[in-house]
Amino acid sequence: MAYTATHYVRTFEGHTPSLAAGAFVDPSAVVIGDVVIGADSSIWPNTTVRGDMHRIRIGERCSIQDNSVLHITHAGPYNPDGYPLTMGDDVTVAHSVTLHGCTIGSEVLIGMGTIVMDGAVIEDKVVVGANSLVPPGKTLASGWLYVGSPAKAQRELTQGELGYFKYSAANYARLKDRHIAALDQQGD
Ligand SMILES: CC(C)(COP(=O)(O)OP(=O)(O)OC[C@H]1O[C@@H](n2cnc3c(N)ncnc32)[C@H](O)[C@@H]1OP(=O)(O)O)[C@@H](O)C(=O)NCCC(=O)NCCS
Repeated sequence: MAYTATHYVRTFEGHTPSLAAGAFVDPSAVVIGDVVIGADSSIWPNTTVRGDMHRIRIGERCSIQDNSVLHITHAGPYNPDGYPLTMGDDVTVAHSVTLHGCTIGSEVLIGMGTIVMDGAVIEDKVVVGANSLVPPGKTLASGWLYVGSPAKAQRELTQGELGYFKYSAANYARLKDRHIAALDQQGD
């Protein structure tokens, strides 16, 4: 049977994840509930995307790499609106990243092992170095590299780095096509 990404998502309380054309969900990943994944985005092995109490929106050509966790905070007495999780296009989320109830723009690289907390905003064209912590409500400004725990502005991005976002996104979009082909060959 041909690989079909929608086989690997779970409905929760009437919300079924919606996958655009070319989106890839690895068979070992878990994608639940009110989740929208844009065209050519990819969810890699052992990643959890749990939209059970609020929405998760992922744009086009994003890669959410192995062992990452994406979750939200529900609306309630302590958080009237809750915190959904929103991501633009061409975002690379490296291995073992936790994104919780935050807003991420387009053309962003989030380094391995980073944690981004509720209400944080990462503007377009930002690199967050590996193993960083972005605290609740913090805004990371466009065009800058941030590192550390808590994440601090380190320096402005170079022209090379500014060009890298789309390269990395396109590279992962091609790689997921190879994984889809491999799964097809194995009969899924
Ligand atoms: C931050 C990063 C972009 C390097 O930036 P850079 O400007 O080239 O940094 P340098 O290597 O010149 O190091 C500058 C300083 O920051 C430190 N540094 C580098 N990465 C760091 C990080 N993630 N956290 C804290 N400090 C870091 C270096 O030790 C160095 O410190 P020093 O000046 O005291 O010697 C890189 O280390 C990084 O974290 N990239 C993300 C990698 C990743 O996860 N890719 C995705 C793979 S799928």
